[in-house]
Amino acid sequence: MSTIRSAVLQANRTASAIALAVLAIAIFAVVALRSSAMVPLDARFPTSPSTTDLATLRRAYATEPSSWPRPRLLPGAHFAEMAPLSILPQPTGKARDLARIGAKLFEDPLLSASGHIACQSCHNRRLGWGDGLPTSFGHGRAKGKRNAPGLFTAAYRSPLFWDGRSSSLEEQALAPLADNREMANADNFVGLLERINASDRYRAEFASVTGRPKIDLEDVTAALAEFQRTLERQTRFDRFLEGQTNALSDTEIWGLHLFRTKAGCANCHNGPTLSDGRFHNLGLSFFNRTLEDLGRYGVTGNAEDTGKFLTPSLRHVSRTGPYMHNGIFPSLAGTVRFYEGGGGRVRIDETVTPPRRNLMQEAAKKSPQLEPFELTPDEVAALVAYLQTL
Ligand code: HEC
Ligand code: HEC
Repeated sequence: MSTIRSAVLQANRTASAIALAVLAIAIFAVVALRSSAMVPLDARFPTSPSTTDLATLRRAYATEPSSWPRPRLLPGAHFAEMAPLSILPQPTGKARDLARIGAKLFEDPLLSASGHIACQSCHNRRLGWGDGLPTSFGHGRAKGKRNAPGLFTAAYRSPLFWDGRSSSLEEQALAPLADNREMANADNFVGLLERINASDRYRAEFASVTGRPKIDLEDVTAALAEFQRTLERQTRFDRFLEGQTNALSDTEIWGLHLFRTKAGCANCHNGPTLSDGRFHNLGLSFFNRTLEDLGRYGVTGNAEDTGKFLTPSLRHVSRTGPYMHNGIFPSLAGTVRFYEGGGGRVRIDETVTPPRRNLMQEAAKKSPQLEPFELTPDEVAALVAYLQTL
């Protein structure tokens, strides 16, 4: 009897020991799993991440963008997932010849009425195809009111200009050529075509492409456009998107995560060019002040477009400062701080009377995809580091 009982007891003890061991292993496994999955891969990601947290983040972004941590989107956002830009192959044959003529025209002040200003006066190769100034100077040093955008990505964007008033590179070139603050060809391009047709070299070069002895305005704009189609370059972030996960450092991936989550940038800057191709009011219209620029309203005349500007591409952005349509921010960190505060403010001036009063009220309505947030100095640095990979 007693031997049976002790055998049963023994068996019970063994069973409990096994059960305990299984339980311990299970608890250990759960704890281990939890600690790696514990760090939240959303806007709550730690403000001072450990190396383990950063390693977890890196693993989450070492996949196809479609399985990355989801961006934090506000109602009404038009989000397209980030993707590498497919860069056009360099042109061949006649297109290449045309691009070469375009490159020469681009740097030739012959295109301006004064003979002093070329496209490259404001779109300088060494300044990211911008001019490094808040706003550009043109004909007779007349000061324009907008910042010259870098042109790397111009061929991949439509519409063009800060207010989206042009739909193609061919159409776009006519604007600076005619603008009396830029190249000032105020005579319907008659003088420009005389000057360019007086050049034996340009005539011969164009003739070899067009087969015509005379150069038309369309030839000039086609050549300039073809040249600008050759400016785009692959970026470090493109390589990361293509699967070269070591193309970005841990800090830069942290910045990418902030861009998509806490800082909310991906609400508007998304897709392969990092622009949603839409118009938004960030509160930068400077309504009723010296810098006033009503943006898209100037093109459509619709009150609700007051103060809206086209989301620019952020490709190559570290090379194209100062920033915004009026170049008011000298640095990327300053730009991030502006967004942290939820954008700019439009002062409501009670003395403004209709119909301007209505426009003022519209100018004060900021984009619903804009929300204030708070970043630590390290987070700002990480976000800026990411912007520099674009
Ligand atoms: C006097 C300075 C100046 C000159 C000269 C000039 N540009 Fe510009 N360019 C600007 C400014 C400023 C803008 C932005 C204007 C706006 O959005 O209203 C701009 C915008 C553009 C854009 C649109 C880019 C985008 O992403 O929206 C293109 C393309 C462009 N310029 C090409 C040219 C070409 C080609 C020439 C020569 C025919 C030229 N520019 C001459 C200052 C200049
Ligand atoms: C509501 C849409 C929206 C959101 C959200 C947004 N942007 Fe923008 N961004 C724009 C628009 C529109 C402009 C042009 C505004 C202007 O010039 O008045 C712009 C301009 C910029 C520029 C200037 C580019 C240049 O070439 O001058 C930078 C840099 C930039 N944004 C970065 C960011 C970052 C970083 C975030 C997140 C912190 C962010 N944006 C969030 C719409 C947005």
